[in-house]
Amino acid sequence: MVKPTLEVEVDGLTYKNPFLLGSGPPGTNARVIAKAFDLGWGGVVAKTISLDSSKVSNVAPRYAKLKARQSKEVIGFENIELISDRPYEIWLEEFRELKKQYPDHRVIASVMEEYNKEAWQRIITEVQETGVDAFELNLSCPHGLPERKMGAAMGQSPEIVKEVTGWVMEVAKIPVWAKMTPNVTDITQPAQAAFDSGVQGVAAINTILSVIGVDLKTLRPQPTVEGHTVPGGYSCQAVRPIALRHVMEIGRKFYGKMSISGIGGIETAADAAQFIALGSSTVQLCTGAMLRGYKIAEELNRELLAYMEEMGFADLTEFRGKALEYFSTHANLVERQKAAKIAKAGERNRDNNWTTDGIQKETDELTTN
Ligand SMILES: Cc1cc2nc3c(=O)[nH]c(=O)nc-3n(C[C@H](O)[C@H](O)[C@H](O)COP(=O)(O)O)c2cc1C
Repeated sequence: MVKPTLEVEVDGLTYKNPFLLGSGPPGTNARVIAKAFDLGWGGVVAKTISLDSSKVSNVAPRYAKLKARQSKEVIGFENIELISDRPYEIWLEEFRELKKQYPDHRVIASVMEEYNKEAWQRIITEVQETGVDAFELNLSCPHGLPERKMGAAMGQSPEIVKEVTGWVMEVAKIPVWAKMTPNVTDITQPAQAAFDSGVQGVAAINTILSVIGVDLKTLRPQPTVEGHTVPGGYSCQAVRPIALRHVMEIGRKFYGKMSISGIGGIETAADAAQFIALGSSTVQLCTGAMLRGYKIAEELNRELLAYMEEMGFADLTEFRGKALEYFSTHANLVERQKAAKIAKAGERNRDNNWTTDGIQKETDELTTN
């Protein structure tokens, strides 16, 4: 039997495997990104950057966990972290250096800017010159930045998504993914807007706006900063069914027309395979990598290969998007069930035909000549 391969071509670029570190703490700087490549990640989406990092002021603490009642395993995670507070010029240098050292690994720059054409076109042009492989546009961070009309404030408006992705596509010469917010009623609308501007793909989902809990002794909501908080972004295992649903919606409308990078609650190869079955070409892990460490890349690669070998899939395209056709309407499920019942009843009736008196008639009915 042929050994399966995890190598996959997406938007004209070859990825050694579909496992990417999602934008966030795992891609904080070039040193950890380089380490991630050495440990087997196919690509890294760096922490989101903007032109003026002096406007970014992070707070601490900025994370809070939701644990399962019995096992105490972390199942949900909230953060109120902003984008990178490291200087833009340092990032440009680091991207250049990374691409020199790792030409065969994919470095995806995540960028975010204010509602300003010049700023977006400047950041795209300058970052592109460093040799990064692709862009992810952060139109989806749900906390902090929307106060400056950035992030989810843009991604929630299909008109603004169309305009901003349009500005980007005027100057981008490498693949562009628009990262979608789940904090909308219909994610296919902003995805359509990005598609209309000609982006090569979408990444979904960013975090879900949330309040993870209230400390009942102090009555302070968490994560608590000087006694106060803001609603933050929810991630980790608990969001996976919601992320799968959003990816399914995008997949049903756009699979084969633009690439999908699936994100949300992925921690294992089996989690990743489900996103691929719903149409994702690559998958991203953020919280999973924060909780389980960079070294899980080896396990992810090994277990996905083992699954493919067991199923007889030579490459990812052999099962990619294959679950999409099994989504239907509820009315259709009712019809299918009715038809199945009738077919079963038919079988049963035929069974009753095999009586000592009726066997000749049944034989004739089942005979073609
Ligand atoms: C602490 C933290 C910081 C994040 N920062 C960013 C960011 O800078 N840019 C971005 O696009 N997404 C950011 N995200 C969102 C993740 O990339 C991802 O979309 C989301 O967490 C869902 O995936 P997960 O369940 O694998 O974490 C961040 C997530 C976390 C937990």
